[in-house]
Order: sequence, then structure tokens, then C-alpha cells
Amino acid sequence: MTVNIKVFNDINQLYEEVASYYVEKINQNPNICLGLATGSTPIMLYQKLIMAYKDQKISFKQVRTFNLDEYIGLHQNHKQSYYTFMKEQLFKHIDIQDDHTFIPRGDMNDDIKAIKTYQNLLDKNKIDIQLLGIGANGHIGFNEPGTDFESKTHVVKLAAKTRSDNARLFNHLDEVPTHAITMGIKEIMGAKEIIVIAVGQNKKDAVYEMIYGDININLPASILQKHPNVSIYLDEAAASKFQKGE
Ligand code: PGA
Repeated sequence: MTVNIKVFNDINQLYEEVASYYVEKINQNPNICLGLATGSTPIMLYQKLIMAYKDQKISFKQVRTFNLDEYIGLHQNHKQSYYTFMKEQLFKHIDIQDDHTFIPRGDMNDDIKAIKTYQNLLDKNKIDIQLLGIGANGHIGFNEPGTDFESKTHVVKLAAKTRSDNARLFNHLDEVPTHAITMGIKEIMGAKEIIVIAVGQNKKDAVYEMIYGDININLPASILQKHPNVSIYLDEAAASKFQKGE
């Protein structure tokens, strides 16, 4: 694989470098199509992009964004929906146009329609840079272990590990949705370029398998070994398994 792995002992430096790269890419192509992610991992990147916007280093006026996933059954305005996350963490602070931001709909009571709509959008729009976090179980988007590598946007039953990992954001585990709608692995792999960020000790096994493991559906991120242009940004904790050979 053509993979570029960078390990940082300073997390701020990690995000600074990724943010600078985005600033450069957005300036080179103001119509860029960005695949975005939610979760803890991208928050500091979004903060730095907001600062870059406020410092007038970039404009999002012509940028289009496609998010990876959304919970099924939460109203868009629920405080843990990914719609709300994107609005609060990024969109409301920058000059992006509302109708340039796309997130799969998990609140339509018609999953087939929601799936088709998102698949059609992704067929028509080629993602230039797809941002990914990685789940501790190796998921990308909400493509849990066992997901077909040929999958397009679909509804998934969330793994118990994913629900318990995300329960920290809800009042109780029972409130964490059981299903989500996610961009499929084939669509993620269709992006021209992929940037993966992983920080923290709990990601070290998944990170190791993503880079050095056999490519297999039980570790969805392992498929990235087949992508022609992947950059992986890690802090020392996330890189600790392959760095120390633990
Ligand atoms: P996190 O999630 O950024 O909250 O760790 C990553 C993921 O599950 O893809």
C-alpha cells in the first residue's frame, strides 16, 4: 500500500499538521469535496479549521461535505445526533452553505429511501479527501467487523463494543441507538485520498491490525491497505503496539 504513517508525541502538533494540509488543499481547490467524520477524534481538527477560517486563511463557501454516518432513530436535533455534532463542532462556525453539507438521514422512518438517497449522492460526487477515525474494534464509519468490503451505504446493527464505547456521550447505555446508517466500505475506498487519525491507547490493537494485519472483514480498516493514497496520523499511544513490538 502507498501509506504514509506519521507518529506524534505532541497531539496538538498532530492536529496542526493535518489542519495545515486541509488549509492547503481547500485553497488549491475551493470546490473540494470532503468526507467528514464524527466522534472524539476529529474535534481538534475542526477547531483548528474554524480558527483558520476566522483568520481568513480559508473559505468553505464552495466546499461540499459528506459525513460518514448517522444514528438511526435520533431526531436531527437530538443532542447526540451526528447532524447536531457537525453543526456544533464545525458548520455553525464557518461559511459553509447548508445545502453543501450532507449527512445520511437516520430519522426518516424509511431506511430504504435514506440509503438510496445517500448512495445516489455518493455516486454523483467523488470525495477528494475522506477523513476517518477508527473504532477500537477496527470499524471505519459504522462498518462493523464482518461488513462486506463491497458494501455501499447501508443500515448496520451497532456492535456491543461500539455502543459501550459511545455510551459515555449518553445518559445510559440503553439510550445509545442500536442501529446506524453508514457510508459503505466501497464508497469510502472510492475517495481519492484518505486521512486516518487515531489517538489513545485503546486504538493501538486496531491500528496495528489496520497496518500490518491480514486484510479481512473482521478488521474493516485493514482494507485501507489496498487504497492508493492513505495517510495515517497517530499519537504515540495509538502507535505503541507496532513501535514497541508489544
Ligand atoms: P472516536 O470514534 O473518534 O470517538 O474514538 C472513532 C470511531 O469510532 O470511528
